[in-house]
Amino acid sequence: MPSLIRIAPSILAADFTRLGEQIAEAEAAGADYIHIDIMDGRFVPNITMGPLIVAAARRVTALPLDVHLMIVEPEKHIPAFAGAGADLISVHVEVCPHLHRVVQQIREAGVRPAVALNPHTPAVAIKEILPFVEMVLVMTVNPGFGGQSFIPETLPKLREIHQMIEAAGRVIDLEVDGGIDAHTAPQVVAHGANVLVAGTAIFGAPEGIAAAMGAIRAALR
Ligand code: DX5
Ligand code: ZN
Repeated sequence: MPSLIRIAPSILAADFTRLGEQIAEAEAAGADYIHIDIMDGRFVPNITMGPLIVAAARRVTALPLDVHLMIVEPEKHIPAFAGAGADLISVHVEVCPHLHRVVQQIREAGVRPAVALNPHTPAVAIKEILPFVEMVLVMTVNPGFGGQSFIPETLPKLREIHQMIEAAGRVIDLEVDGGIDAHTAPQVVAHGANVLVAGTAIFGAPEGIAAAMGAIRAALR
């Protein structure tokens, strides 16, 4: 197992009446990123948040903000998310006919570019963009909602992308998103993931944010 596994709590499952406190608690508990899910009601059925929330998160944490765009025409909104303080922006390959251009646009905005794949999208879809990105995000549920069950059939793709990254000979993070908890975390890490997004398992945990993050870390030992 890779030694440095990073945890990116997804605020989608946070209590929005106490968002600042919840982010601070995750940071104090050793979160490595704050994952922010942007949904437009078009690429995915749900509508969530926009640049205002990214800017609000920016004011309460020093952690890198990992902004996951589940929106069509992401190129229209990259300046707003970059300006709001995103450190990483993921765009879905399924909505980008000009993916290379969008990735360049993200980088030119001073943000680290990442590409995301739906569960059914084959690994080969990111082969030619790999030299240009800092991270690949593999969806382990269908994007749109928190609290769904992990799809184990995505594991072989994770390993395949991990091998593509190894062959690229450059540091590229491999992030997983959806249904990650203390039970599934060791499986995805064993298949090459090194950045774990978790929403419900962290912010929805009855035992609290710190204990939930501790349980995920303990499962990886
Ligand atoms: C789903 C989002 C996820 C979501 C994960 O579309 O991209 O980031 O917050 O939630 P859990 O961890 O509850 O599956
Ligand atoms: Zn996400």
